[in-house]
Amino acid sequence: MSPTSLDAWKHLEQHRDAVSAMPVRQLFADDPGRFERFSIQLDDLLVDYSKQHITAETMARLADLARATGVDAARDRMFAGARINTTEDRAVLHVALRRASPGAVLVDGRDVMPGVRAARAHLSQFAGDVRAGRWTGATGQRITDVVNLGIGGSDLGPAMVVDALTPYGREGPRLHFVSNVDGAHLDETLRLVRPATTLFIVASKTFTTQETMANARSARAWLVAALGEAAVGRHFVAVSTNAAAVEAFGIAAANMFGFWDWVGGRYSLWSSIGLPIALAIGAAGFDALLAGADDMDRHFETAPMAGNLPMVLGLLGIWNTNFLGAETHAVLPYDQYLRRLPAYLQQLDMESNGKGVTREGTPVNVATGPIVWGEPGTNGQHAFYQLLHQSPRLVSADFLAAAEPAHGLPAHHPLLLSNFFAQTEALMRGKTLEEARAELAAAGLDADAVARLAPHKVFPGSRPTTSLLYRRLDPRTLGRLLALYEHKVFVMGAVWGINSFDQWGVELGKVLASRILPELDAPAEATGHDGSTNGLINHARRLRGQ
Ligand code: F6P
Repeated sequence: MSPTSLDAWKHLEQHRDAVSAMPVRQLFADDPGRFERFSIQLDDLLVDYSKQHITAETMARLADLARATGVDAARDRMFAGARINTTEDRAVLHVALRRASPGAVLVDGRDVMPGVRAARAHLSQFAGDVRAGRWTGATGQRITDVVNLGIGGSDLGPAMVVDALTPYGREGPRLHFVSNVDGAHLDETLRLVRPATTLFIVASKTFTTQETMANARSARAWLVAALGEAAVGRHFVAVSTNAAAVEAFGIAAANMFGFWDWVGGRYSLWSSIGLPIALAIGAAGFDALLAGADDMDRHFETAPMAGNLPMVLGLLGIWNTNFLGAETHAVLPYDQYLRRLPAYLQQLDMESNGKGVTREGTPVNVATGPIVWGEPGTNGQHAFYQLLHQSPRLVSADFLAAAEPAHGLPAHHPLLLSNFFAQTEALMRGKTLEEARAELAAAGLDADAVARLAPHKVFPGSRPTTSLLYRRLDPRTLGRLLALYEHKVFVMGAVWGINSFDQWGVELGKVLASRILPELDAPAEATGHDGSTNGLINHARRLRGQ
């Protein structure tokens, strides 16, 4: 059922006009306790959402919507191992991968935890062996470089985490991530490494993904050309759920790290897909990442709605998307180490919630997953922030930063933080026409110049932002943040009543690409598509000398 038919939805629509008429700066002036009221602290992690365009009534009505759409019950079904991914008939249990507390997690009456622990032990052992030089290449040399061959969830999560935790990975091997089927990606990476000291991880849940298999075949040929066929076993390992395809590729079962169909690709960095993370920062660091995520899972499971971070962020996402009309959501880490976070969150959010029908297959009738994008601050300030401040478009944004830097140039940090705080202040406060006029007049401009320039200096303000501030970007904190975003996406999907765990939308293009592939080198021109597609294929054929 579309949530738009619920009374709670209609009440929010009525409420919106009243709230929109009140600038957020006015709401701050009227309520000295606004920051305390609309911020949540979990240990060192502060989430300040007081600059959102909301009142206490907004939050109460959003909580009504969460109750009316059964978000609590949906969450409990996920944690209990129910098959909530109905179109693929699967449970959704990435939370089991980081679970620290004892006790069974049942899928169809069977406890998955012994398998989870065994897989984690296998991964830890192997990562330790490679890092300590006990696992060597075929010529007996130590592994200095690891190349992860995977795409989507088998790339974005580990790539982002390894980058984010760079300061924790200085003693491990260098990590490289190759995802694109564009040969430039693998070619340029292979130029950086040597066969005798390189380990390849073929990471693919299905072990059928075209891009990954093409890269794996080319990498294998490169290695065999240098070291011979017998070297493959020391230089290739696999992470997959498809043991038969892994063996068919020539990787022994002992060198395969498994996981399960109840781990969605974009939720898989906590599984064996996290092997590059353990190789980069060590098994203890990987465990700390999982522990941070587990902390957030417990919070999501138990905290009351008003103080529950994923609930609050998810409901604010619904408010901004469906009631205030924000079509896009910017992720703005004031943390260079989180530069890949926007790309990671694009898959997490847009592949999960970019859906048009409810679980029952009826139209949702409202916009679902926002368009997620972003860049680290302060770079974005000198690129796209102009639009955030003055365009008539409304963009919601998350700002993130660590209070303590993890790098060796601490004198930069106050510069970074002051920009973060100033931007959220400016986006919220804005500048009225009267203020712009007064400012220009005070600068000594004549009346004509003031009238001409003042409209260009107006900032509407009330641009909704949430600030996430933590002590330090360490593995545990990163784990908390990523689980927070996973559950935020869950809450939004549950309110919309959609299945956040399938991804049928990526299938059509895959099918058509496999049909077009042979046509690029066929003897005759392509005629079986629309005029544009035929034209593009045939122009490429001519340019390629066909
Ligand atoms: O893009 C579609 C998708 O199925 C993602 O959901 C997944 O993370 C990615 O492809 C890679 O899939 P695999 O791990 O099976 O190669």
